Order: sequence, then C-alpha cells, then structure tokens
Amino acid sequence: MYRLSRNDKCWCGSGKKYKQCHERTDEKILMPLKRAGYPIPPRRLILNAEQIEGIRKSAEITVGILDRLGDIVAEGIETREIDDFVSKYTAEHGAVAAPLNYKGFPKSCCTSINNIICHGIPDSTKLKDGDIINIDITTILDGYYSDSSRMYMIGNVSEEAKKLVEVTKECMYAGIDAIKPYEPVGVIGCTIQDIADKHGYGVVRDLCGHGVGLRFHDDPYVEHYRQRGRTMIMMPGMVFTVEPMINQGTWRGRTLDDGWTFVTEDNMLSAQWEHTVVVTETGCEILTK
Ligand code: MF3
Ligand code: CO
Ligand code: CO
Repeated sequence: MYRLSRNDKCWCGSGKKYKQCHERTDEKILMPLKRAGYPIPPRRLILNAEQIEGIRKSAEITVGILDRLGDIVAEGIETREIDDFVSKYTAEHGAVAAPLNYKGFPKSCCTSINNIICHGIPDSTKLKDGDIINIDITTILDGYYSDSSRMYMIGNVSEEAKKLVEVTKECMYAGIDAIKPYEPVGVIGCTIQDIADKHGYGVVRDLCGHGVGLRFHDDPYVEHYRQRGRTMIMMPGMVFTVEPMINQGTWRGRTLDDGWTFVTEDNMLSAQWEHTVVVTETGCEILTK
C-alpha cells in the first residue's frame, strides 16, 4: 500500500518492522477497499503517538477556555469580551489562537448567535435573554492544533431553541460513536442526517468537519450529511473534527457582507457542537473532552 519493503520500519511511527506491524492490515483490509474505489488516507494524515500527545496538550487549553466560558457568558456581555478572555487565556498558557488573522479573520474565536450558523465575528453585540450562542475555539500549542466548540444558552431560552441545541449535541456524539477504523468517513454523516431528519432539521452542507492537528484544516473532509460516492477510509492515528451545524429550517445558508458571518437563509436558528477526535484500533477517542 505504502510501498515499503517488509523489513523497513513501519510507516505508522511505531518503530516496528513493517512486516510485524501494518503490513497485514494494509494488504488484507486496505487493498480490497482501495480496489473497491475508496480513497485511502495519505501517510501524512496518520499521526504518531508524539504528535497525538502534542494535540492532547493543545486540547487541554481549548477545553480550559470552553469550561471557563461557562461562567463568563451571560446576559449583557459583549461578544468582544468573550474574545478578550480567549485571547488572554491563550497567551497566558503559551499558546496562539488559530482564528486570529487566519485568511484575514479579525478575532481570536468565533461567536455565532441564534441564526448565525458559524464564523460570527466577536464585536459589540450584547448577549440577550433567550439567545443561544456557539463559541468556537481553536488553539495552537507548540505547532499542534485542537478545535472544539460548544453551545451556551442565555437566561430563559425557548423550548424549541433548547431542543435544537440538545439534538445537535446528540448528532455530534452519534457521529463520533459511528467512527470505526477501516470504515469510510461517510458513516458519520449518514448517522447525523438520520437524527436530524427525524426532527425535520436541516444539516448544513457548505461547511464540514476536517482533519486537524498539524494544520487548521486538512483532509479528510468530514461531511455531516448523507452523500453518494465513496469517502475516505478512517485509519488509526487520523485526527479530525466532527462539528455538525444543524438548522431549525432549511440547511441553506448565506454569507454576510463581512465575508465571514454565515447565517441561515430563512433566518431560523442554528446550533453547532464540535470535538477533535483521534481514530483508534477500536473506535475513536475524543481529545477535546
Ligand atoms: N474553528 C472553525 C472550524 O471549526 C474555523 C474557524 S475559521 C475562522 O473549523 F477563521 F473563522 F476562525
Ligand atoms: Co473545526
Ligand atoms: Co472549530
């Protein structure tokens, strides 16, 4: 598969000889999948233990921020105060906020309120009673990226909004549970779409989960909806996000004139949850827990 001779060190970074490590899996499992037309991940997407450890350390900061935001996010605060906290916490922990200046994004995190699907820019908007907000944090520590987001509910939130937030979280965890090595990444989207369909919700198609860890956005492309065609095979050591964006109404969205803020086309609510996971021999492990 990866054109190694049997006595070479295995491509996975274990230090073992190829013939004592991945050769059998490559030939018995991957070759047939490849022949059946499934894209096999390039070697650079299979991370070694040291790299995964680096992402784990980065994730500790991301999770620390999201936890602390639980106490900070409240009615009356401006989204730029959230950004100030993220920027300060990140710097204090020797890390860098990945969003800042990423393709020109002006802030250190994304704050997406109500009908904003994602990529909301922190500004002087004040949080109001009844709002739902997604805060998306991506941290770089020693070159390693971790990416996670959560929903926060402000004061008295309507039952419909609460339900959307809860079902979206269920979608994310069900998608994560569907991850199994040597299965195509498309099983994630099938699982998520089944749940969203049951509730009549729309699954956003314009933005997807993504490989992460050594870069902000890498392969594989993790669709959250069901699609035709063969998707990339998941292998132990791959790190990517699962981050479904689920809309109350249509799945369609549009970008505002600022070039970033992505809102629902019908202005109904949207929710999102995101974790970074690593594929293991038996399933996966959430790194941003
Ligand atoms: N964190 C987002 C994601 O989950 C990406 C934000 S890009 C930014 O992929 F530039 F808006 F920060
Ligand atoms: Co992401
Ligand atoms: Co994110």
